[in-house]
Amino acid sequence: MLGVARTALLTRDDVDDAAADRFAALLDQRAERVPLQHLTGRAPFRHLELAVGPGVFVPRPETEQLVEWALAQLTGVDEPVVVDLGAGSGAIALSLAHEHPGARVTAVERDPQAVEWTRHNAALRAAAGDRAVTVLTGDMTDPALLRDLDGTVDLVVSNPPYVPDGARVPREVADHDPPLALWGGPDGLDVVRGLLTTAARLLRPGGALGIEHADQQGSALPALVRGTGDFTDVADHPDLVGRPRFTTARRSARD
Ligand SMILES: C[S@@+](CC[C@H](N)C(=O)[O-])C[C@H]1O[C@@H](n2cnc3c(N)ncnc32)[C@H](O)[C@@H]1O
Repeated sequence: MLGVARTALLTRDDVDDAAADRFAALLDQRAERVPLQHLTGRAPFRHLELAVGPGVFVPRPETEQLVEWALAQLTGVDEPVVVDLGAGSGAIALSLAHEHPGARVTAVERDPQAVEWTRHNAALRAAAGDRAVTVLTGDMTDPALLRDLDGTVDLVVSNPPYVPDGARVPREVADHDPPLALWGGPDGLDVVRGLLTTAARLLRPGGALGIEHADQQGSALPALVRGTGDFTDVADHPDLVGRPRFTTARRSARD
């Protein structure tokens, strides 16, 4: 409200009435469970600060670890081809482009409202000097998606909608994250099934796949990945509080 850095608050003795009123109005909205990130319009994610608001999923700290793993897969590859399926704010795609300056990243997002945020954040990052990320409106389960990249992609990464239908979620999530970002069918894995077909098609042999999942899916998702017969080295990884959080694999050699 005051337009100053947080540390500068220490030296401020008073707040004018207009700023105090605006602050009180924001507190009322937060008390109504509007996410803090929607009130500030910003979400921190790794080294970036992303613009967020109504219509886009607020990136979560858990996903930062998926990006950490993804970057490790790209070590030593000068210009890796990377695809982020379900990009939302662009948290994953834009972080990868920022932290691996050679990466050629494509971000795919289906929701027409969310993709406006992807494009907005991508434009801000490109203006700040990061390599431009290609943003595509599309369905990650579409067999025609990114056909020109078939068999060439070094890394497919995704934080897809994975909440099982009917699961209880906090009001901030239920009322403010877009439904398309959350719900994944009866077991939460409906979109992931299509994602696996797309990933198997896009990845080169040996290419890496990383998918975030719900804490209850730490066995089901690895089993699903193994069941396709298209991947090797299937593993699951915990988040910082020890809950199963993402599954990784490598594309096996084609026949
Ligand atoms: C959980 S959010 C993740 C957003 C962002 N990657 C992040 O980690 O913060 C899932 C995103 O996938 C998008 N999505 C859902 N189904 C999709 C589909 N079939 N194809 C492409 N995007 C999809 C949603 O609109 C949403 O933006």
